[in-house]
Amino acid sequence: MHKYWGKKPFNEISKFIERYTSENEVVLDSFCGSGVTLIEALRANRKCIGVDLNPIAMLISKVSMTAVDVSLVKNTFTEIQHKLKSTINSLYETKINGENTLVTHTIWQNDQPVEVWYATSASKKKIREGLPIDITMSRSPSLKAKWYPDTPMFENSRINITKDERVSDLFTPRALVGLSYLLYEIKTIEDEKIRNIFLLTLSGTLSQASNLVFVIRERKKNGISQSKAEVGSWVIGYWIPREHFEINVWNCFENRYKRVLKGIGEINEIFGDKDDAYIAKHARLINGTATALPIDEDSVDYVFIDPPHANRILYLEQSLMWNAWLQLDKDINWDSEIIVSEAKERKNKNAENYTALLSRAFSEIKRVLKPNKVFSMAFNCLDDNTWIETLRLFTKYGFVLCNIEPLVYSATSVIQDNRKNALKTDFVLSFINTEREDLKEIVFNNDKDLLEERIVTILKDHPEHEVYNVMNALFEETMPSGYIFKPSYIVKKCAELM
Ligand SMILES: C[S@@+](CC[C@H](N)C(=O)[O-])C[C@H]1O[C@@H](n2cnc3c(N)ncnc32)[C@H](O)[C@@H]1O
Repeated sequence: MHKYWGKKPFNEISKFIERYTSENEVVLDSFCGSGVTLIEALRANRKCIGVDLNPIAMLISKVSMTAVDVSLVKNTFTEIQHKLKSTINSLYETKINGENTLVTHTIWQNDQPVEVWYATSASKKKIREGLPIDITMSRSPSLKAKWYPDTPMFENSRINITKDERVSDLFTPRALVGLSYLLYEIKTIEDEKIRNIFLLTLSGTLSQASNLVFVIRERKKNGISQSKAEVGSWVIGYWIPREHFEINVWNCFENRYKRVLKGIGEINEIFGDKDDAYIAKHARLINGTATALPIDEDSVDYVFIDPPHANRILYLEQSLMWNAWLQLDKDINWDSEIIVSEAKERKNKNAENYTALLSRAFSEIKRVLKPNKVFSMAFNCLDDNTWIETLRLFTKYGFVLCNIEPLVYSATSVIQDNRKNALKTDFVLSFINTEREDLKEIVFNNDKDLLEERIVTILKDHPEHEVYNVMNALFEETMPSGYIFKPSYIVKKCAELM
């Protein structure tokens, strides 16, 4: 229904919930993101509490756990279609050789329209060269935009945000008109559940309606690019390619709606037998910070978290396009985000701040989790210090390791770290909440000969292993003995030995 980075495989999470809790017990995820843990907890008849700093994550979670009358959704879409389809399409209509045409896609190259795909009454897809009229239609649309966000973004070259760039700069003036009309209409929907669904539909439309959609050019075998273009899709970052698509806003919205409708079917299958009163009683969503939980002490039976991994995904910065359009950005608590960011205006978001806030989040978990209950954390990181610092937090708060196992993704996914040697599985580290104060800190073992010996043994049994499998095996083996080998050493040694 909606993209969110870091979504976890649901079937894997339910395994942990069922292992560590019984029916009606309370599961907490204080970094709940799009709510996978919560949905799995409810599905297994547990109670759940989800906390996240990111407002769009809250909306995704909320919609994902609410069954809804599909006919109401369909009727609302028909109404929106009736009111806006022809208005929005009028921004893309022009006469070519006396024939009425509707532009579906414009390919911009260095700010010039170079290729236009359009439909006529006789054909769904025709292609022509860009014309001066395409510039006029896109830059000086015939309708005035209603409200749209011109929120400033944090300059950050890592996610391609330049100085003084604003959310509105990601769109053409024509796209801003279409999207602003949709937002205006959606906000008039009275029924909150239905309104939320369409807000999410609009938010999910934004990337495909923006200038972030790159052009995929087929390549001939000899490397010379062919003229045939295909539509790419936004993955991450705010990079506006020199050659990008501008897609008809109505089509983007309608396509997204079809996907949302499919998602609603799935939600209804899961939650059809649980009415709103049941969900209200069993699920609590808190748009707040994991570092200060409004939750009673010793009231939670199991914690499963998947916190941000240092600087890998800048959740709030990446979500600003969504939050700004839905006007959810006003009260964002940027300071509490547990993140390492290179943004110039977020200089305090460094490794120290990350560890300090994560430590506070751990102390909150310690406070709310009942004694002798389990705390699991998904973890995927290659940085030596992040590993050891995180492991030390567990020790600091008396959490004793009871299980370590990989979290398997069913398919390769953009949310995973696909860098060379990246850990292709997350680990789930599970710990028992004890009052022990004598726990020894986990330390690095720098014995390179021992490391080599271990890797050789692992590879002897599993010659097909990749670096990440070796790392999995090593962590599983060594952590219970109170040490780990540095991930950077493991990667280096593997490179020598494999
Ligand atoms: C790896 S994602 C979680 C994804 C989630 N497991 C899912 O399935 O969608 C980490 C989340 O931590 C949130 N976050 C960062 N700092 C936070 C804080 N101080 N309190 C609560 N949530 C925070 C981010 O907004 C992000 O949604």
